[in-house]
Amino acid sequence: GQGRLWGGRFDGGPAEAMFALSKSTQFDWRLAHLDIAGSRAHAKALHRAALLTDAELADMLAALDRLDADVASGAFVAADTDEDVHGALERGLMERAGHELGGRLRAGRSRNDQIATLIRAYLREELLVVAAGVADVIEALAGQARTHLGVPMPGRTHLQSAQPVLLSHHLLAHAWPLLRDLDRLRDLDARLAQSPYGSAALAGTSLGLDPEFVAAELGFAGSVPNSIDGTAARDLVAEAAFVLAMIGVDLSRISEEVILWSTVEFGFAKLDDAWSTGSSIMPQKKNPDVAELARGKAGRLIGNLTGLLATLKGLPLAYNRDLQEDKEPIFDGLDQLRILLPAVAGMVATLQFQPERMAERAPQGFSLATDVADWLVRQRVPFASAHEIAGKAVQYCEDRGIELTDLTPDDLGAIDGSLTPDVLGVLTVAGSIDARDGRGGTARVRVAEQLDEAAAALADH
Ligand code: ARG
Repeated sequence: GQGRLWGGRFDGGPAEAMFALSKSTQFDWRLAHLDIAGSRAHAKALHRAALLTDAELADMLAALDRLDADVASGAFVAADTDEDVHGALERGLMERAGHELGGRLRAGRSRNDQIATLIRAYLREELLVVAAGVADVIEALAGQARTHLGVPMPGRTHLQSAQPVLLSHHLLAHAWPLLRDLDRLRDLDARLAQSPYGSAALAGTSLGLDPEFVAAELGFAGSVPNSIDGTAARDLVAEAAFVLAMIGVDLSRISEEVILWSTVEFGFAKLDDAWSTGSSIMPQKKNPDVAELARGKAGRLIGNLTGLLATLKGLPLAYNRDLQEDKEPIFDGLDQLRILLPAVAGMVATLQFQPERMAERAPQGFSLATDVADWLVRQRVPFASAHEIAGKAVQYCEDRGIELTDLTPDDLGAIDGSLTPDVLGVLTVAGSIDARDGRGGTARVRVAEQLDEAAAALADH
């Protein structure tokens, strides 16, 4: 009854609460267009196996086209009595093609193969949108890096002053993880490109249908080698959830720094008006809400991944209804990144860096101490002793409330006999930065190369 997909062995319909629990149209409807594409391919496979005549195939395809148009226009929607998108669309097909012809389509396929195929096809489409959004954030970072090439800033470890670096070097250090996320998305697409259609619920079809044909029709590289795995596996959905979570974490790390930089204490960057918010009570406020929402959504994306892994853990082969729970977390992750990525790109692209403030802070906190030690090493002092002597210099300055750059030749002599006035030559931010000229280092020439390398890596995507 009521257009359900089963009935023969049942005396009655499901209880109301059973049906409410089972229902998925409220979230799987977004797969409707792809489900109809699958039906077209499957109809052609049935025709190739002589299970549909030429005329039946033509009528079936025409009915599927009308259904697709009605779904797109909203003229056909899921009814309260439809359990899932697949059942609803079969009802829609029967309404258009008649029960006799419409009832032929389900031969040799199951909703288990449909959903396993559709989730892969959907991810393949949507991950392209995610990749484009990630590329825009990389562009924003690289654009700022190019504009500010030469600006020094304090480099930190443990959030403590460590060594001066170029702002561009630091910004690109946020771009590279995102470039690796693009690599991950591309790698994942190759694994997603295998179609489980034709698994016929579990053991494969007995009707002579060709899964490779259906796969090619749907734009997949091929069909799965194992029908049980094809319908049971959701590792690829979990992998997608991981990449989305990783992107969220990468955006969150950028955001945390933007939040710090835009405080009055740091003063390294000002947020553009269009990418910040005010306070309803404190007139002076300009809040980094984009960055905070990025940080918050990263937690949500991690939750989606861990929830999905928990769903999969302990599931016996093959299809289990638990697998219906894969969709909401992954759809949520895609939806969140769709709105988050453009906002983060806008925030980064419009950040107003404060080069003077960064340059002023770059040598503070004794960040040139490593340069003193390295200078001593070049004078043939063993590094262990050099470290000790440079540490003494830091202590000397700290006791007197001065910076290493304030040291006079007399001070140097008082600290250690090996510190000749020549050491003052390396106590500059520019000298410190340009001395780090090995591949991957912060020297301006290396960072300029790195900018080109990042641009080339991005262009490759
Ligand atoms: N709605 C199900 C899902 O999302 C697909 C249908 C399979 N249902 C079933 N009873 N075999 O996983």
